[in-house]
Amino acid sequence: MFLFYILLYFWNILLKCFQLKFIFMDTVLSAGGPVDSKFLLYKLPKYIRKERPRTGLEYMYMDSLTQAWQLSKFLINRTQSALGQTLNQLYEAYKSKNDSTAYVIYNDDVPHSKHYSWKQGHTKGFLLLDKSQGFWGIHSIPLFPPFPEEGYGYPPTGKQNAQMAICITFRYNQFAEIDKQLLCYNPNIYNCSIPDIFQSDLPNLQKLCVGSALPLVPWRHLSKLQSAEGENFLHFAKSHFFVDDIYVAWMAQQLQTDLLAESWQHDGQELPSNCSLQHHVYNINLIKTPWNSTFSSYYDHSKWCVSWRYEDQWTCIGDLNRAPQQAWRSGGFICTQNQYIYKAFRHMIFHYHSCNNS
Ligand SMILES: *[C@@H]1O[C@H](CO)[C@@H](O)[C@H](O)[C@H]1NC(C)=O
Ligand SMILES: *[C@@H]1O[C@H](CO)[C@@H](O)[C@H](O)[C@H]1NC(C)=O
Ligand SMILES: *[C@@H]1O[C@H](CO)[C@@H](O)[C@H](O)[C@H]1NC(C)=O
Ligand SMILES: *[C@@H]1O[C@H](CO)[C@@H](O)[C@H](O)[C@H]1NC(C)=O
Ligand SMILES: *[C@@H]1O[C@H](CO)[C@@H](O)[C@H](O)[C@H]1NC(C)=O
Repeated sequence: MFLFYILLYFWNILLKCFQLKFIFMDTVLSAGGPVDSKFLLYKLPKYIRKERPRTGLEYMYMDSLTQAWQLSKFLINRTQSALGQTLNQLYEAYKSKNDSTAYVIYNDDVPHSKHYSWKQGHTKGFLLLDKSQGFWGIHSIPLFPPFPEEGYGYPPTGKQNAQMAICITFRYNQFAEIDKQLLCYNPNIYNCSIPDIFQSDLPNLQKLCVGSALPLVPWRHLSKLQSAEGENFLHFAKSHFFVDDIYVAWMAQQLQTDLLAESWQHDGQELPSNCSLQHHVYNINLIKTPWNSTFSSYYDHSKWCVSWRYEDQWTCIGDLNRAPQQAWRSGGFICTQNQYIYKAFRHMIFHYHSCNNS
């Protein structure tokens, strides 16, 4: 086992030397999760019941090698964290002004900006790619990531509540599909570079990047994506023309499964658990950590859902909350039937609300 890690370690260095980019490392040689083309992280809230207050910067991490949540040894504000290492690749690309690399950073809540954009997507993420491959990160953190000029950092406003991120490496040919999905998203892009060599493959992203007129936007679009590792994902993108709760009106019915949903429901009104259509959606209200502590969904800003039935194994991670105003917002979800991801999330559900009338 030890030898394996040593080999892995040198393999990482080799990869770095030859500039084969887009690798992720987090808990290298410690928790056993070194390199993968996909990772998830769940940042813990500051307050967990019956525990001392935390820094609000600890996070749990998983990838194909760890296969379960592990507490990272780095805080999320460090460049050594999974997000720090990932975004540093984007910042390096920005610095080198490399014409063979494209990147995009988007967030409805832009760092240092006083203007909140209601018209654009309720969606947060980043992309970095060259003509061979790249990654797409989807997360829930407002005012993040920093502009490339500032380098990596984590906003203090993101400490209090739990947050979530998923980052997946795709081969280049998948980005044409992602480009279509992002047209539905209409993301609020606040920094980007899409060199001309990408124009024919990423026409929508280029228009979104420079702010030029967009083609007709579909109501919604479902895409099949395959990661560089060969894992399948289903991606839901809705535009603001699809005015409905994406969980009930689309995802649950499309996946043909009842869903348990975790989302931010703070703005006075919330959408209650819903059993009106064939497949139901139940709101989670209490989350359990792998060490059996709990925290209220009230302190969780992440947005995800899993199938109620273990056999269905769906996990979806994305942008939108179960709140009435979000029906008018664009955004999406990426879904997988990966058994380890399902298990990790399903086990975190401590309590959910059934429907009142059932
Ligand atoms: C990260 O946050 C911790 C706790 O607030 C702080 O002590 C540390 O200086 C921060 N590190 C960086 C790199 O910002
Ligand atoms: C630019 O990016 C390409 C593809 O990622 C890479 O092969 C090349 O080394 C980069 N050039 C510089 C100057 O960073
Ligand atoms: C964003 O990115 C562009 C490169 O496309 C750069 O010229 C610009 O200064 C960046 N920063 C801000 C704050 O927009
Ligand atoms: C459940 O959701 C659907 C789709 O959004 C909606 O039409 C229906 O009115 C909701 N049911 C209840 C009881 O809120
Ligand atoms: C958490 O609770 C479960 C079921 O009650 C138990 O099987 C498990 O050992 C506990 N885990 C820890 C880390 O205490």
